[in-house]
Amino acid sequence: MSTKPRFLIAGNWKMNKGPNDAKALASELKAAVTKANCDVAVCPPFISLQAVSAVFEGSPIEVGAQNCHFEKSGAFTGEISAAMLSDMGIKYVILGHSERRAMFGETNESVSLRLKGALTAGLKSIVCVGETLEERQSGVTEKLLTEQLDAAFNGIVPGDFDKIVIAYEPVWAIGTGQTATDEQAEAACAFIRKHIAKLFDADTAAAVRVLYGGSMNAGNAAGLLSCPNINGGLIGGASLKAADFAAIVEAAGNAGANS
Ligand code: PGA
Repeated sequence: MSTKPRFLIAGNWKMNKGPNDAKALASELKAAVTKANCDVAVCPPFISLQAVSAVFEGSPIEVGAQNCHFEKSGAFTGEISAAMLSDMGIKYVILGHSERRAMFGETNESVSLRLKGALTAGLKSIVCVGETLEERQSGVTEKLLTEQLDAAFNGIVPGDFDKIVIAYEPVWAIGTGQTATDEQAEAACAFIRKHIAKLFDADTAAAVRVLYGGSMNAGNAAGLLSCPNINGGLIGGASLKAADFAAIVEAAGNAGANS
């Protein structure tokens, strides 16, 4: 029998905060989040990982990267491998974010390769899926999610899922202030969980953390996080403000305690 998964709130700083600014924001976050009734991770740019990790020592906040290359090492100019991240004590990595898919040529296949690389290195992966506005309006959201999940988890076994988190991020809600309604987010996250049951088994589906991401903020977090199939959030803009991020962490702690 499986129990409801522990919530995760992850901040995606995107291309914001070089080492000095990152250190300052991390210090504010450390002061604002002294205890958490959920897992918490912050994902700064690669060059700020070390500074942020140093600040979070002794804090419940873990550190993640926003991407990784799937090979361990080699002639891949400008890339960072999962093994290198693991070597510096990084715990999480975001994979297949829609900005990487739309702007940097990432495909379902490359996400799958990166996931295997991250698993080999022992990182916890936050695998992002989600539809564009056009896809939602033309009624292909579930088909699109199915394709993204099938490809990402091709060759993955149920035992890998203790290191896999899925983030449902509708592209139209990211950075737009146009959050999905609780009902829209819940429906998509429930569909994702059902599809994981189909691909693997019911226990794996019940235990996997499915996050919502897309304009989640201190005001709408409690509603989204109280949905039965949402186990946390991937937060962009609001993760750059310590008080807002701390409020979301608190909302997740309360929602997890009430579930
Ligand atoms: P947002 O970004 O919270 O700014 O919409 C979320 C994300 O891109 O992960």
